[in-house]
Amino acid sequence: MDNEWQNRDLYVNKIFLSKEIPSGNYLKRLPVISNLKKIGGLELTKPVTIFVGENGVGKSTLIEGLAVAMGFNAEGGSVNFSFSTKESHSNLHEYITVSRGWRKQKDGFFLRAESFYNVASNIDDLDNGPGGLPIILSYGGLSLHEQSHGESFMALVENRFFGNGLYILDEPEAALSPMRLMELICYIKKLVDNNSQFIISTHSPILMTFPDAEVIEITQEEIKSVDYKETEHFLITKRFMDSPEQMIKNLLD
Ligand SMILES: Nc1ncnc2c1ncn2[C@@H]1O[C@H](COP(=O)(O)OP(=O)(O)OP(=O)(O)O)[C@@H](O)[C@H]1O
Ligand SMILES: [Mg+2]
Repeated sequence: MDNEWQNRDLYVNKIFLSKEIPSGNYLKRLPVISNLKKIGGLELTKPVTIFVGENGVGKSTLIEGLAVAMGFNAEGGSVNFSFSTKESHSNLHEYITVSRGWRKQKDGFFLRAESFYNVASNIDDLDNGPGGLPIILSYGGLSLHEQSHGESFMALVENRFFGNGLYILDEPEAALSPMRLMELICYIKKLVDNNSQFIISTHSPILMTFPDAEVIEITQEEIKSVDYKETEHFLITKRFMDSPEQMIKNLLD
């Protein structure tokens, strides 16, 4: 990607553990945390960082901790959201330091598939915004609850992501058909060209092909930058798509 934004300072350029996590805290046992400690912190060098890894390695915990440290609501939303339906988020933000670039972000959103419903409810409940206009107008005008999961997700990206922003997305593919996911890739490209930074956790081999994204794989043993074609997600999906009948036969036998 030929984009001068790449050579500028990003909104988030390093995450590191700055305080010892007490031994009784489950965070201490998470692979992502021990690996982060081992490498002395993670540098983010591209406008799009994509975390991949097996269920439970701690991707959501890491990006949620990062989002909270950056001032976002733990269950999702912009920095202006403060609703809380369930205190289920970790206290990782208390143990990490996020190194920020010199540029101040003008927009931002933290979106996690699992609590998107609560974000939609909160938007419906919000008072009118600037000029007395309903806040829902910033989200396309139609209640996100009156649209399907994927439609409401795309309405959010299309209407509410303005650029010059930091967007943290946890498994955005959960809502989207493959076509819509490719549409999302086009929106991400447009927003990156408009000085935005994305930090994404995904299981989608489609999403991880984003041009020039840094794909970071978290395993039990390490956290490292990889070529998306070498990730387990990509390899397994490819093997499956190359011969679905054979794969299913092997599985079920
Ligand atoms: N309150 C808690 N107490 C103990 N363990 C917890 C708690 N909350 C989460 N965990 C554990 O933390 C681990 C990491 O969870 P996390 O949601 O970050 O994984 P993930 O990499 O995002 O997985 P997935 O790909 O399934 O979304 C899980 O094994 C989970 O069981
Ligand atoms: Mg997760």
